[in-house]
Amino acid sequence: MSKAKVLYNNNSEKVRAFYNDHTEKFLAVYGNIIQAFRTDNVSIYLDYTIKSAQFKKGEHLLDAGCGICGPAVYFAENVSDIRIDACTISEVQAEKAKSLIKNSNQIESVFILNEDYHKIDKVYNLESYDCVYFLESFGHSNQKNMLIDACWNVLKPGGRLYIKDLFKRLSDDEWEQLRIDQICDQIDNAYQYYIPNLNEVLDKIRSKGFVLNFVKIPEVDLSTFEHLKISNDFQNLFDIGKITSWDDYIFPIDFLEIYATKPIKDNMKDMHLYFMNK
Ligand SMILES: C[S@@+](CC[C@H](N)C(=O)[O-])C[C@H]1O[C@@H](n2cnc3c(N)ncnc32)[C@H](O)[C@@H]1O
Repeated sequence: MSKAKVLYNNNSEKVRAFYNDHTEKFLAVYGNIIQAFRTDNVSIYLDYTIKSAQFKKGEHLLDAGCGICGPAVYFAENVSDIRIDACTISEVQAEKAKSLIKNSNQIESVFILNEDYHKIDKVYNLESYDCVYFLESFGHSNQKNMLIDACWNVLKPGGRLYIKDLFKRLSDDEWEQLRIDQICDQIDNAYQYYIPNLNEVLDKIRSKGFVLNFVKIPEVDLSTFEHLKISNDFQNLFDIGKITSWDDYIFPIDFLEIYATKPIKDNMKDMHLYFMNK
């Protein structure tokens, strides 16, 4: 197989079929926001996202893996003058997103495309976004390095990459790690996911030249946290990724946010200037 072919041989077709088949089920249980880590009142989580990703008035954002644009519409309603380009691999989701955008009067702020996020630097203008964000969508990629390259290409100097996702947990106990790996494989198979390895993602982000601003667990007040009840309901109702035995079960993932900035000076010898120009 040629090198170019390997590069583009990603998981997108399978993800597309998965969401075309199951979006109705997701919406029935999750509503318009298809995220597992959330608060009971999901608006609290979306407000937190606005704060944490530092979405600001007048910014131009790219929502990579947007679902039916539930989050994008909320952000447009709550941050003035933002423009969000949003893409999903699923045409079923893209159609639903169009209705949601229209019904919420956000047609001048949110723009949906049925596109593969690996191709954002072919589809959208280069160096034109203040922030590219992924809300529990990055982990569907099995070409994560190429995806981070594409994000770099569409970000303005000074623009941010924001990823909220699940990452494989680590244990220094060999047996525990084996179980974590097994349970992650089951989740990957059920959801067409490739649960990211945090260290690999951070290595790529840093070697690309991004300034890593933070990695952290989303800081929501525990009393508002939803405790993954919706995800469990979804699994039990539709038999997708259902946990069949709690024997030897080990919680396999960490939910984390990564926030990184493309330096204004794209030159390693000028890196110190990044902090002066901020
Ligand atoms: C768990 S859902 C999250 C949706 C949305 N971010 C939200 O918070 O409601 C994952 C999303 O990633 C999208 N996705 C996965 N792989 C993609 C790809 N290669 N290109 C575009 N979107 C993709 C799916 O279509 C789906 O919309």
